[in-house]
Amino acid sequence: MRSLILRIVLILSFFCFYCSATAEDSLSAAGSAPAVNVSSEEVSSVSSDKTASDNKEEPVDDELKREIQAIRKSLHGTERKKVLVAYFSRTGENPGVGTISVGNTFIVAKEIARQTRGTLFEIRAEYEYPADYKQCLKVAEKEKAAKARPKLAETVDITPYDEIYIGSPVWLEDMPMPVYTFLESMDFSGKVIRPFNTHEGSGEAMFEDKIAAAAKNAEVKPMLSVRGAITQYESVKLPSAIKTWRTKEAIKRSQEIIDSLN
Ligand SMILES: Cc1cc2nc3c(=O)[nH]c(=O)nc-3n(C[C@H](O)[C@H](O)[C@H](O)COP(=O)(O)O)c2cc1C
Repeated sequence: MRSLILRIVLILSFFCFYCSATAEDSLSAAGSAPAVNVSSEEVSSVSSDKTASDNKEEPVDDELKREIQAIRKSLHGTERKKVLVAYFSRTGENPGVGTISVGNTFIVAKEIARQTRGTLFEIRAEYEYPADYKQCLKVAEKEKAAKARPKLAETVDITPYDEIYIGSPVWLEDMPMPVYTFLESMDFSGKVIRPFNTHEGSGEAMFEDKIAAAAKNAEVKPMLSVRGAITQYESVKLPSAIKTWRTKEAIKRSQEIIDSLN
């Protein structure tokens, strides 16, 4: 019985968690200013009503209440996380998309920031990379061979942020060197990093490992990888792909809790 109650609470909590993400998206998309969210209090009342009516003869004991609280906390967190979306992106000539005026990685970063109400930060070297693809390739090859760490045009204080999304294109099966400058310049203790990249065939290019090695003390979560051409020509696919990526972890966590009840 106890296990059944926990399962019901878990399923309801996860359902409300997903609905809150959806409500959040439609509001942001409509350009509504106020931050409206299905709060954990609302979730609590829905869940409590359900369990109370389902379980009239058997009062919910304190231990069970604590377990229910723990499940809710693990799915929702106690408060909204503060999110930074730091990205590197270049405009100009790129394979697969021709000459673009809005960078591929920036398009993904902007959608993540919209969904999470995060703050965007552009990782930018002090100098600009050539718009011409072949010239840019030459510069990138030189920098990669030299393991260069170009100075950044701007820095950001990551202290207030809980989650940091880091986005980068794939350059020569690697990240552009300024992304390393950014990652190696600070301590990520207590921060969660969610990497994402855009590419034209290389896929993930082991960015999770590369970021974990460069970002001191960060907890690196599974990454999202998007083909550059999708961002330019099929960007309607992005919101749901990003939402699925973001909620995947919550699904995994709820499955782990269900498994622990068996
Ligand atoms: C210098 C350079 C090197 C690149 N190397 C690769 C590569 O090794 N593998 C790959 O899949 N794409 C590569 N690309 C393509 C980019 O990863 C892709 O176009 C990406 O979406 C660009 O993102 P951005 O517009 O945000 O800069 C390279 C592009 C440039 C400019």
